[in-house]
Amino acid sequence: MLDRDAYVPLTDPIETASRDEIAALQLHRLKHSLAHAYENVPHYKASFDKARVKPSDLATLGDLAKFPFTVKTDLRDNYPFGMFAVPQEEVVRIHASSGTTGKPTVVGYTQPDVDMWADVMARSIRAAGGRPGMKCHISYGYGLFTGGLGAHYGAERLGLTVIPVSGGMTERQVQLITDFKPEIIMVTPSYMLAILDEFRKQGLDPRASSLKIGIFGAEPWTNSMREEIEQAFDMDAIDIYGLSEVIGPGVAQECVETKDGLHIWEDHFYPEIINPETGEVLPEGERGELVFTSLTKQALPIIRYRTRDLTRLLPGTARTMRRMEKVTGRSDDMMIIRGVNVFPTQIEELILRAEGLSPHYYIELGRAERMDTITVNVEALPGTAAEDERIQLAGELQKLIKNNIGVSSTVHVVEPETIERSMGKAKRIIDNRPKE
Ligand code: DLL
Repeated sequence: MLDRDAYVPLTDPIETASRDEIAALQLHRLKHSLAHAYENVPHYKASFDKARVKPSDLATLGDLAKFPFTVKTDLRDNYPFGMFAVPQEEVVRIHASSGTTGKPTVVGYTQPDVDMWADVMARSIRAAGGRPGMKCHISYGYGLFTGGLGAHYGAERLGLTVIPVSGGMTERQVQLITDFKPEIIMVTPSYMLAILDEFRKQGLDPRASSLKIGIFGAEPWTNSMREEIEQAFDMDAIDIYGLSEVIGPGVAQECVETKDGLHIWEDHFYPEIINPETGEVLPEGERGELVFTSLTKQALPIIRYRTRDLTRLLPGTARTMRRMEKVTGRSDDMMIIRGVNVFPTQIEELILRAEGLSPHYYIELGRAERMDTITVNVEALPGTAAEDERIQLAGELQKLIKNNIGVSSTVHVVEPETIERSMGKAKRIIDNRPKE
């Protein structure tokens, strides 16, 4: 793990600029971004006109609140390229997120967009402790998903030796880590757990591996999961956040020296927190839905995009740019069980606190007598798999959930290696409730 006393952070001047400098740059860029969207994307022209606002109405950063939100369905309704603000010949890259139903959400990049993305990703990896000359194993999926290629371009830009493995073939992941000896791994936290299992299966000590830094994101994960991974691998586990509509990974990044939330790269992405019910902008420090406006993107300017991610904004620490608290839930993943709001990450915390349970789990929602029910399925750790032991562990977790979250649940502790492993984003909730 990092030797804190010897660590010297490396930063671009903008990462430590004064708040006044950052705000002045944001205002300047925001004016351009709003005008670019309004003049070149019919959707924005129509939505601004409907809300009776013009880009010239923005005199201060606070004026952004007058502008309409953009939501995922706006991108879907303009499928595939209707939200692009430049002619197709200038678009050098397309990515898309699959979504569970219907059409994918398509995003595009000009060459300067790809360059800006590589810059913010390089900055992110450096904030996580990456330094030129290190080797970086990338297990985020390559392809339409932004994880693999986003990490790849950033790692190259920083001057790392990139090992572009993509997701899957877990045995081979372990072999390549053992043979190539990368210091850095970039992967979803849930797939890192599958890699960890494979190390143990092969009789290898994960703490003896070359890995020093893990840059984990693309799905919610808890500080308890961080501890679990850090202990298992003797590495620093650092959080990275992003979404395809805004650019991909590299919108915000935790710094290795503080690990206290993610610094938003505010010179390119302007954050707001809103009340998800009323749309009202909340004062700094209050929890709500995160909204982003791009400040420099060309192909797909995005104005007040509602991420559905729940968090709050905090002042900068290791950098002057503001932090967002670790995202522990999306409004889409919120389960309401007899009036109590529950997120999968709350269950994850308790699973990791309990003895004898592995971090592999999923949650099933059902309905009985018009009430929603919740069933937690979690694997026993190898060695604690006898049936009576598993029943006892299930009872203990059930009690923890009742006492800490306040809901009654059913818990099944299943045998090791019976829950399907994710190769990318883990699917935590299976909704078996009858469709209304
Ligand atoms: O997941 C981009 C990404 C790739 C981020 C690799 C980090 C690492 P999408 O597929 O568009 O993009 O999904 C975006 O994933 O709105 C969050 O709900 C969730 N998410 C991403 N990073 C984190 C994180 C990529 N660090 C959606 N913590 C976002 C919690 C995250 N949730």
